[in-house]
Amino acid sequence: MDAVQGSMSHRFMLLGLFALTQLDLVRAGVSLDPVKNFCRRIGHSSVYKNGTLYINGGLETYVDFGADGQQDWSTITSGINENLISVDMTASWDWQTNVSISQSARHESGSVAGMQWPVNVHDGSLFGGLESSSTLYMFGGTTSSFNQSFPYFEIPPTTQYGLWTYDMNADVWAAVDTSGSLDTIPSWGANAEAPDRGLAFYVGGQIDGGTANTTQFLVDDTVGVGGMVVLDTTSNAIKNVTVDDAVKSNRQGAGLVYVDNFGDAGVLVLLGGETQADGLIPMDEIWVFDVSSTDLSDNPSADKNKWYQQKATGNAPAARVDFCLVAAPAQDNSSSSIYLYGGTSNGTIFDDIYVLSLPSFTWVQVFTGQDARWSVTCHFIPPRQMITVGGGGKSSNISSDCDWEQKSLAVLDLSTIGWGSVFDAAAPRYDVPDDVVAAIGGGPAGNATKVEPEGGWAESGLSQLFTIRKTATTAPPPQNSTIVTHSPTPIPTEAQDNKGSGLSGGAIAGIVIAVVAGVAIVCGAIFFWLRSRRQHRQNVGMEIPEKDSLPSYSTAASQNTPELGGTPQAAEMPAKIVPEAPKPDPHEPVEKDAGTVQGPHPSLRQNGPAEME
Ligand SMILES: *[C@@H]1O[C@H](CO)[C@@H](O)[C@H](O)[C@H]1NC(C)=O
Ligand SMILES: *[C@@H]1O[C@H](CO)[C@@H](O)[C@H](O)[C@H]1NC(C)=O
Ligand SMILES: *[C@@H]1O[C@H](CO)[C@@H](O)[C@H](O)[C@H]1NC(C)=O
Ligand SMILES: *[C@@H]1O[C@H](CO)[C@@H](O)[C@H](O)[C@H]1NC(C)=O
Ligand SMILES: *[C@@H]1O[C@H](CO)[C@@H](O)[C@H](O)[C@H]1NC(C)=O
Ligand SMILES: *[C@@H]1O[C@H](CO)[C@@H](O)[C@H](O)[C@H]1NC(C)=O
Ligand SMILES: *[C@@H]1O[C@H](CO)[C@@H](O)[C@H](O)[C@H]1NC(C)=O
Ligand SMILES: *[C@@H]1O[C@H](CO)[C@@H](O)[C@H](O)[C@H]1NC(C)=O
Ligand SMILES: *[C@@H]1O[C@H](CO)[C@@H](O)[C@H](O)[C@H]1NC(C)=O
Ligand SMILES: *[C@@H]1O[C@H](CO)[C@@H](O)[C@H](O)[C@H]1NC(C)=O
Repeated sequence: MDAVQGSMSHRFMLLGLFALTQLDLVRAGVSLDPVKNFCRRIGHSSVYKNGTLYINGGLETYVDFGADGQQDWSTITSGINENLISVDMTASWDWQTNVSISQSARHESGSVAGMQWPVNVHDGSLFGGLESSSTLYMFGGTTSSFNQSFPYFEIPPTTQYGLWTYDMNADVWAAVDTSGSLDTIPSWGANAEAPDRGLAFYVGGQIDGGTANTTQFLVDDTVGVGGMVVLDTTSNAIKNVTVDDAVKSNRQGAGLVYVDNFGDAGVLVLLGGETQADGLIPMDEIWVFDVSSTDLSDNPSADKNKWYQQKATGNAPAARVDFCLVAAPAQDNSSSSIYLYGGTSNGTIFDDIYVLSLPSFTWVQVFTGQDARWSVTCHFIPPRQMITVGGGGKSSNISSDCDWEQKSLAVLDLSTIGWGSVFDAAAPRYDVPDDVVAAIGGGPAGNATKVEPEGGWAESGLSQLFTIRKTATTAPPPQNSTIVTHSPTPIPTEAQDNKGSGLSGGAIAGIVIAVVAGVAIVCGAIFFWLRSRRQHRQNVGMEIPEKDSLPSYSTAASQNTPELGGTPQAAEMPAKIVPEAPKPDPHEPVEKDAGTVQGPHPSLRQNGPAEME
């Protein structure tokens, strides 16, 4: 506490030197539109629900368009995305021509602990809850030092409000006080949800100096957060479920995906990421959570909240963080393909796609290209496409260039493994890709013959879980009778603010923003890459290996572009072709910036000393 106050008063001292007003800053940023001026986004969260893809939060760089209609890279402004962005998925679109993207600004929803609206969070999770509800749920996340002078930048005063609900009909955000159930607000954890039961899951993550003003003492350090946060959106009940140490739930940058066709109520699959103690977690180490065992009561029995470990075989991807996962079931539910895309580790940014096929737990590489991407989110849109959202490119410096995917979207046909710009709402049914069929037997429609892991099941419970192939069953809801439920509280809570000063929350926010802006100016045009401030200092000058030895997109695509139900999509845009770079004003080649990812620590963000754990 003392340390925090010390650093705050240090900042207040700077106030007199820099007379920037909040109004100036708002004026400076008001013309930047998160959709129209999109340049690049990372650390965002997204969810697909009832025909709409929603994108919230994250860091965004903005760009102006020159007279020729091209992005003018000399105008890149670094900032945050303040709006909730919606992409209509009820009709086919082509992001190069006719995709429909709308957005809504986050309206004031009543002051909670001095916050006028939900703060912009980085590396949080957006959940959709039940399809039939009209609410979205924003959990976790941190604020970043990327550009603290951006309009409306705010660090939450406390870790009390870990969850915000958004009522889409009323257009109101409301804070949920999670302090009765959670110690803190984690960020950079792994998330997934079981939408048929309205359950949302968040494994691990970390806290850092941007989590809240009460954690600013961490400065550049981070602390891993263990456990699994489970949100029952049907009751707004939230619970931190204890997870055995062996699962390494205190991991960051991992992947969690819901696979609905196994077990009584589906399973969660947890893989990858890293812990501060152990570093990167190998990709053959797979953890499976039985969703039907979910028990949010205070003293669940030992067979509840059950995790199983299984070794995977085959061609496993390199260990990494910041990738994304989707799962697609075979038509007959005999297998499910978990697709892993992109990510980064130890200075390499990946452009590859691997499938982990269940229940054989076999890894198969299905794509490699040269459009490296990290901090990307992805969604399976039935029947058979994957939509990717955002992501950093070949450079860890997201301010150095703009995404060639100018709408922040890309489309992958999960059966042909063909990249394109067209989302086809009437795509044919999902076929298991040829490379996966070759590994698991059967055919494109299913009938897998390899139905258990090589070397057998690690635990008998696992084999039971994976012999239950879902037909159309409805499993009983999890027990939640004894848990405390929390209501959204968009109510002023001035009494809880022990500021001890006569200033209003708004005035303080203004001062803080102005002071922070002042600090930014003192440092000149400092760039800070929030996840690698320490790495950056230690490792400037190293380069990301070039991947010239890999097949080009067009090579990979031409091997993988059978027809998609006769639509011309694959032929028109068979692959993630290298963008025709708008004439940027590159200060230096992109690859030169890559050094910021390098380091003995695999993570971009892990800069906390091991003893913090
Ligand atoms: C930070 O945001 C302010 C306000 O929009 C903007 O003027 C400034 O250029 C931004 N800084 C960077 C490094 O982009
Ligand atoms: C948008 O383009 C796609 C692909 O060309 C086409 O299938 C779709 O019908 C178009 N949608 C609209 C609303 O024009
Ligand atoms: C789901 O989408 C349909 C079609 O857009 C809409 O009519 C319906 O109201 C939506 N359901 C909810 C719960 O918002
Ligand atoms: C954080 O901000 C809140 C609201 O402005 C204030 O009440 C609290 O004292 C601050 N905490 C610290 C440690 O600065
Ligand atoms: C969950 O509980 C673990 C201890 O079991 C704790 O370390 C962690 O901070 C908790 N997570 C949250 C988000 O409160
Ligand atoms: C596959 O499982 C899903 C539930 O995950 C179920 O709705 C569907 O009917 C099943 N399909 C077959 C062919 O059993
Ligand atoms: C990270 O990369 C460096 C340089 O390429 C290499 O020496 C080191 O062994 C790598 N570390 C890990 C954990 O892969
Ligand atoms: C990132 O790129 C921008 C634009 O090229 C440059 O001004 C900045 O110095 C770069 N930052 C780092 C850390 O290289
Ligand atoms: C599975 O194989 C059987 C016979 O071997 C065949 O009748 C059935 O159509 C196949 N099912 C699928 C989904 O391919
Ligand atoms: C949890 O309990 C609430 C009431 O306490 C109930 O409305 C809700 O349906 C329950 N949810 C589940 C998934 O059991």
